[in-house]
Amino acid sequence: MKTILITGGAGFIGSHVVRLFLKKYPNNTIVNIDCLTYAGNLENLSDIDDLPNYIFEKTDIRDAISLDELFEKYNPDTVIHLAAESHVDRSITNPMEFVETNVVGTVNLLNSARNNWRESFEDKLFYHVSTDEVFGALGQTGLFTEETPYSPNSPYSASKAASDHFVRAYHETYGMPIVISNCSNNYGPNQFPEKLIPLMISNILNGKKLPVYGDGKYTRDWLYVEDHALAIETVYRKGTIGETYCIGGWNELQNIVLINQLCDLMDNKLKLELGTSKKLITFVKDRPGHDKRYAIDARKMEKELGWKPKESFKSGIKKTIDWYLDNEAWLKNITSGAYQDYYSSQYKK
Ligand code: NAD
Ligand code: DAU
Repeated sequence: MKTILITGGAGFIGSHVVRLFLKKYPNNTIVNIDCLTYAGNLENLSDIDDLPNYIFEKTDIRDAISLDELFEKYNPDTVIHLAAESHVDRSITNPMEFVETNVVGTVNLLNSARNNWRESFEDKLFYHVSTDEVFGALGQTGLFTEETPYSPNSPYSASKAASDHFVRAYHETYGMPIVISNCSNNYGPNQFPEKLIPLMISNILNGKKLPVYGDGKYTRDWLYVEDHALAIETVYRKGTIGETYCIGGWNELQNIVLINQLCDLMDNKLKLELGTSKKLITFVKDRPGHDKRYAIDARKMEKELGWKPKESFKSGIKKTIDWYLDNEAWLKNITSGAYQDYYSSQYKK
């Protein structure tokens, strides 16, 4: 029986990871640590929060003393660290929040783990969940691999790169058993509608403009969130200590192509005349430092750990649209209040 401490479990990816681990490891205790920022939502876990092996602790990873107390209380065997400020546009407006949570928060967690595991690192694991954005931007060809040098371009990716470096340094310096994965763009149920796909779905539902940054010819590699959760569970179970793993969907799409496909699918679902949603597409001012293209070579995950994505973009996007249509109350709840202020300030330009 193990205790697995998952940070950021009330967020988008974290909630899918918590659900998967609770189901897959009913004899282990899963402790979800989350301070519930605007992106954290306990509704994401309402279907499983009464399971006997689940514990929620509202704690901020910026608070080193509280973290030490939690480690003392639960003596976790494993940490799976997802808590972060995760939105690039917000990092451009407010970089310091990203330094505080993503960098300082990660070092706080490393320190608490190191202190709690001081007698032995045997059977312990610190798993840091990171992003492909640490590698910077690709040109028209090529793929990110585990050997790609770091070259972050946004305050968000710089803060994630710094946190990756600290995790690696704790392995080299103190021998802490760590593993890191760098994943491409996720999409699926429970994603906060500041990110491209849920923002477009939400705007189509509300008849609002669909803001496309720059010329729309930026490319991302999309992975269905449940495939990412399965990849994380695979790395947890089979990953080699000290290694990094690139996780991706083999699903490269230009933003404008994706948005056009989404518009057609939404027209179909909402029984609108084909072309209705596309009329909402509006090209807006570009994101500063906008990375042209991301794409992951996920062959190490497949060859060494036997993981590959199950969902195609075609199947994943249909499930995603269905989820948002079936959960309009969820969407309404989180798009009231502070979201409106964020939206008008982000899209006023
Ligand atoms: P999210 O913004 O949806 O969720 C982040 C969660 O962390 C929220 O529940 C929030 O309340 C919590 N959190 C934030 N600051 C905290 C703090 N100081 N203390 C405690 N909890 C805090 O993010 P996400 O999209 O689910 O991303 C999760 C992780 O995966 C992040 O580390 C992100 O960098 C990484 N990642 C995301 C993607 C993606 O496409 N979304 C891709 C690759 C990697
Ligand atoms: O690659 C992994 C990363 O993917 C994660 O580490 C980040 O946490 C996650 O937010 C995501 O970053 P992106 O910046 O790629 O995602 P976002 O959904 O913000 O934007 C996707 C693309 O769509 C990007 O090229 C910017 C563009 N875009 C985005 C928004 C919100 C628009 O054109 N209009 C928009 O309104």
